Formats: sequence, C-alpha cells, structure tokens
Amino acid sequence: MTYAGVLQRYRSLLDIPAHTVAITLLEGNTPLIPLPRLADALGGGFDLFAKFEGLNPTGSFKDRGMTVAIGEAVGRGVKTVICASTGNTAASAAAYAARAGLRCIVLIPQGKVAAGKLAGAVAYGAQVIQVDGSFDDALALVVEITQKQPIALVNSLNPYRLEGQKTAAFEICDTLDSAPDLFCLPVGNAGNITAYWMGFRQYNDLHASGLPRILGVQAVGAAPLVLGHPVEHPETVATAIRIGKPARGEQALQAAEESGGKIIAVSDEDILAMQRTLASEGLWVEPASAAGLAGLAAEVRAGKLNPRGLRVVGVCTGHGLKDPGIITQSMPAPVVLPAEIEALEDAILV
Ligand code: F0G
Repeated sequence: MTYAGVLQRYRSLLDIPAHTVAITLLEGNTPLIPLPRLADALGGGFDLFAKFEGLNPTGSFKDRGMTVAIGEAVGRGVKTVICASTGNTAASAAAYAARAGLRCIVLIPQGKVAAGKLAGAVAYGAQVIQVDGSFDDALALVVEITQKQPIALVNSLNPYRLEGQKTAAFEICDTLDSAPDLFCLPVGNAGNITAYWMGFRQYNDLHASGLPRILGVQAVGAAPLVLGHPVEHPETVATAIRIGKPARGEQALQAAEESGGKIIAVSDEDILAMQRTLASEGLWVEPASAAGLAGLAAEVRAGKLNPRGLRVVGVCTGHGLKDPGIITQSMPAPVVLPAEIEALEDAILV
C-alpha cells in the first residue's frame, strides 16, 4: 500500500473524533539509523539507534501530532489555529494549516527561536508574533485567547497532538519487532515523552511488545523536572527545550517513573559535544535533538548505566538545518582563498 502518513497508517489505534480529516504531508515513517561508532565510544556490546525525526516534512517530530490536530480542527469547522512555540511547533502548525487552508497564528519568544524555524513559519504564511517574554509566557497567552475566541489551540495540550506523536513509538516497535530496552529523548514542554509512553504501553497491551526504560533529558539551565520546581528564566543553547514550566510535567515524571527510568539534566557543553559526535557519524541534528543521546552518554560515562546487551533508541527530534547559526558560532568559519591552484594546493595538501 502506498504510504499516506501517520493518520492513515495507524488510525484504528488513535483515540480521535470520527470527524478528523486527513491533512497530510506524508509525515512519519522516519528511519531508525544504527549508530555503531557512538555505541563503541560508550563501551560497545550494545545496539544503538537514532530515530531521526528531523526527516519529517517540516524537519521535526511535531508533524506527527500536527497532522492529527489540524485534521481534527478542520473536521469541526475551525478556521483559525494558534500555538506558542520555541520554533518547531510553529513551523509545523504553519505548514499543516497552509495545507488545510486555515489561518495560523504563532507566538514565539523574541530573539530565542532558531533561524530555520522562524523562516519556516514565515514561509508557510503564518502570522508570526514575537512575545517579549519566554515560551511559558507565550503559552499562557494562547491558552487564554483560545478560551475566549473560536480559535483552536494546537500546542501539545491539545490531546490529538499526542495521539499523532505516539505513532513514533509504534514505528520503533514495528521496525525492531519489539520495544527497545532503553529509550532516551529530550524533554521540553513534555508532550513527546508523554506521547511515547502512551504509544509504548498501547503497543505492549496489543502485541506484548515490551516496555522500555525511559531516560528523559533536559538542559541544565532549563530543568524544572529535575529541580522539582518551575524555572522562571530558563536558558540553554538548545532553544527548542528552553522551557521553565512544562505543560505536561506531571505526566512526564510519571512516564519516567512507571517505566523504571528517570529525567536528568545535561550541560550545554555536553549537548553541543553530542551534536558534533552525531554529525561525525553522518547525522546533523539541532542542539535540543542531541540532548537525549547526550544524557545517555553522561549516564554511561558516570557509571550509572550499563548498556551492555541492551537495545537502545535515542530520538533525534529535529534537523540540524533548523539551527544553522549555532554551527557558525561554534565552529571555525571556512577560509577564503584566491581562485588559484597554488593557493588551493597550499590549503589542502599536507
Ligand atoms: N526537541 C525539539 C527539536 C523540539 O522542538 C522540542 C519541543 C522538544 C525536543 C521537546 O519536546 O516539548 O514535547 O517535550 N519544541 C516545542 C516547540 C516546545 O514549540 O517547537 P516536548
């Protein structure tokens, strides 16, 4: 059967209203890419894979949830959708709203959204509003306006977003024939960890596929779930997860605990180091997307986790192209040469 997106592939497993229509850009069906060199660097003797969600149509996992949230909104006659975003949700909402012919409004924290995400939201024709505040402030505003106006909220507080996002857990189980032993991912507003846990549990109930231990990873400067209280002024190079009051924080903590896992925080240095490590193995991901595997590496290197004999999956949630600025800041700029063969030979022959 021709692939037609996550809604068509998994509809019977999604708890969504019958009026939900298919608004799709053929999201999902992303590869599970082996990372043998990183596994070796962490001591070897285990299988490690990246679920590369940056290969979705707008470059992040958000598309899985957005196809469902927008399809549900269209089905009940909604004309306008809104979200707060650190960037990826904005780009995804804008694209799916464009596909459906809806008006889309996105609120982003001023100056804290990576260039590729802002450009995406603008390109797809959303009304982009920068808020002089944090993501958490923007989320509070969109929640309030949707209580007053006939505008649909497409943040992950919208339950249909999670229904779509849980399809990634189904795909992992389908590809591996069962759930991995250990599963790590970045945590921001905490919708995705909640959705994965729903998905793994549902597949286990249906197919006895087993359950992974979940390692959720925040950035040290934006780690409310590790600290146990909101962070007023979250700061991290991983702007996608620069969130101080996660909307689904309780569910995230529950998912980690029920699975026998935990939520930890890693430094920005560790996140950027893992971004480079993944790039050196051919996967360029945005900083937040490296956090899950950075957390795995930190746990293994600290002797807190022994992955030997396990099957481990890390989610790389968004593509490196989303945030080109971070690379130009952290890596040396390319040299400029005169267009002469001698200069080229001097530069490359050692
Ligand atoms: N990774 C990336 C690349 C993200 O964009 C996000 C969230 C996360 C991880 C964390 O997922 O929020 O479900 O825990 N980005 C949201 C946004 C907040 O607005 O694009 P989460």
